[in-house]
Amino acid sequence: MVFVTGGAGFIGSHTCLELLKAGREVLVADNLCNSHASSLERVERLAGKRLSFVRVDVCDREALEKIFSEYDIDSVIHFAGLKAVGESVGSPVEYFSNNLGSTLSLCSVMRAHGVNRIVFSSSATVYSGSFGVPSGGFSESSPTGECTNPYGWTKFMSEKILSSVCVANPDFSAVLLRYFNPIGADPSGEIGEDPEGVPNNLMPYITQVASGVRERLTIFGNDYDTPDGTGVRDYIHVSDLARAHIKALEFVEKNTGCEVFNIGTGRGTSVLELVRSFEEVNGVAVPYVVGARRPGDLGTVFANVSKAERLLGFRAEFGIRDMCRDAWNFQKRNPHGIK
Ligand code: NAD
Ligand code: WQD
Repeated sequence: MVFVTGGAGFIGSHTCLELLKAGREVLVADNLCNSHASSLERVERLAGKRLSFVRVDVCDREALEKIFSEYDIDSVIHFAGLKAVGESVGSPVEYFSNNLGSTLSLCSVMRAHGVNRIVFSSSATVYSGSFGVPSGGFSESSPTGECTNPYGWTKFMSEKILSSVCVANPDFSAVLLRYFNPIGADPSGEIGEDPEGVPNNLMPYITQVASGVRERLTIFGNDYDTPDGTGVRDYIHVSDLARAHIKALEFVEKNTGCEVFNIGTGRGTSVLELVRSFEEVNGVAVPYVVGARRPGDLGTVFANVSKAERLLGFRAEFGIRDMCRDAWNFQKRNPHGIK
């Protein structure tokens, strides 16, 4: 059975759906600090299959110990973590203890139970911005570190923890997936991104403006060295990202050692292009103003995805228009979120 930490969240719920569709047995561990158990009920309905759920803090080593004794776990997908970049600057202790504490507890209990396979949610944020973006996009061997916030360092350090465990234990297998910008929602509109309060990220902000919850979007700068001056990112449909986890799971089942993969589309889209696609596809207006640059932002970030294509056999299928359609479909069906 696959032990999925943080499985009730945005990316976790979509991955649980893909896992069930692929015929996997799934056990979710989530403390619901940023999600609702109802997302898992929806996943079960969509898949027509059941999963198991325990409400637990993944930092709690003793609780994990009990779970690993009770269930027949053979691999782990580790999503659980706090992810708000800005919040991490004001609450570094909470971010380091939650994001590193969960990874360390997991590693310790996995070792005690001889569970040697893990897929970890890392982030493009580990890439160092000071050398500029290579012309073919960031590749897995591009320089990392120099993170501009505690959240980024927790991903950087979790990667180091897992790669060190692989060195110490030749039977261990870790895949570190560096996600670029996951957006969109399952095409059913039943599960999706459901942030508390003011969204930090662009797409949930756009959907809230389109639905009238917020008055207008502020575009953070239009003086970058990009075709229209606004920031360029590599957006990937969350259902594609979820499928990448199935490929990663197959990979850890066949290999040992530590491998890093970028998961994106390999294509950049500017803020203005995303806003225009959203308006066009959905026939709604997204009023915006142009404001100052957001501190710490790079002009252009996109992935070189050739390693994931070559070794995982993964390639994203959905395009920007699909992402815009599905994000809006989720927002319309769930104006008050999924609680
Ligand atoms: P999310 O907040 O929707 O999901 C994270 C889940 O983990 C939530 O359900 C939360 O309740 C749970 N959780 C947090 N700490 C926990 C703990 N100590 N014990 C048990 N459960 C805990 O976030 P998401 O967007 O689905 O992100 C999933 C993972 O992917 C995170 O690790 C995040 O850092 C990483 N990631 C996300 C993005 C993104 O843009 N969404 C990009 C790169 C990496
Ligand atoms: C995208 C673009 C903004 C909001 C973040 C994390 C990264 C990863 C993904 C977790 C940028 C612009 C945004 C707004 C805007 N998460 N923007 N107005 O910053 O690429 O990445 O999420 O690992 O670690 O840093 O994503 O969605 O915040 O921004 O103009 O209100 O939209 O400047 O160009 P980002 P984002």
